[in-house]
Amino acid sequence: MSTTKYISISSQKGGVGKTTINILAASIFHFLGKEKVAVIDCDYPQHSLEGLRNKELAQLQADPVKAAEFQVLNMQSYPIVDCTVKEALDVAKEMDGQFDLVFIDTPGTINVPGLLELWKQLDYVFMPLEADVLSVEATIPFAGALETFVIGKPGSRLKQYYAFWNKHIKSEKQDFYNKTEELFAQQNIPFLKSRLEHSVNYKKEGMRSTMFPLSKEFMRLGITGLIQEISQIIFADKVLAKATASTEASKAL
Ligand SMILES: Nc1ncnc2c1ncn2[C@@H]1O[C@H](COP(=O)(O)OP(=O)(O)OP(=O)(O)O)[C@@H](O)[C@H]1O
Ligand SMILES: [Mg+2]
Repeated sequence: MSTTKYISISSQKGGVGKTTINILAASIFHFLGKEKVAVIDCDYPQHSLEGLRNKELAQLQADPVKAAEFQVLNMQSYPIVDCTVKEALDVAKEMDGQFDLVFIDTPGTINVPGLLELWKQLDYVFMPLEADVLSVEATIPFAGALETFVIGKPGSRLKQYYAFWNKHIKSEKQDFYNKTEELFAQQNIPFLKSRLEHSVNYKKEGMRSTMFPLSKEFMRLGITGLIQEISQIIFADKVLAKATASTEASKAL
């Protein structure tokens, strides 16, 4: 059985942070979690992750100080493969067994050939949403589509999807956040507890690096909590396997 887990930070709404959080999560699991990570960028025609990686590679070539920093890091960067949604399914299947985690950045629109099949290849979907009506209105039918067409359907490995807040503004009245969470609970759409804060830091280069670990100053802003929560969900079977193994071991004593 494959141990590779396919994850997507995905939404049917533009600009909610899909690409940003896919790369944040990929980098944190790769550089800090030491997991074997790969990224598939099938957000055609933007391919912003591929573009980002190429820009960083050019910077390393042009800047000896950065190049030296990268050498000191003594870690290879994770692969980023750009392809169409239709190609992504084959790319993902080829990666099976070779990586611990594969993050897939998908387009923010449902009408793309092959997207349904690609969703079936995912283990978990995390859906970022912003505190605006359009974002909420786009997330409910997305969850509905995953429930109706993907979970439990033949050939599907999708276990669950979760909504979570991105660009959370602490100083704002929290009514909208609370009411949305109530609405989602009524619709049986699970919500993560962690919220990513709205921050100007997201405009900084270090925040979206695919070649360097995220610096400590950026790990605040709710990122640590979110990654821990995601980690507990996607590695729940590992924890279970460990617990079972230790129970078996203690029985054998
Ligand atoms: N928590 C945050 N605080 C502030 N800005 C953020 C936050 N998360 C993302 N952003 C910014 O929001 C913008 C959109 O983010 P991003 O490109 O990741 O969204 P997307 O959902 O992938 O968009 P698209 O639908 O175009 O693919 C970017 O400028 C990004 O820097
Ligand atoms: Mg994007």
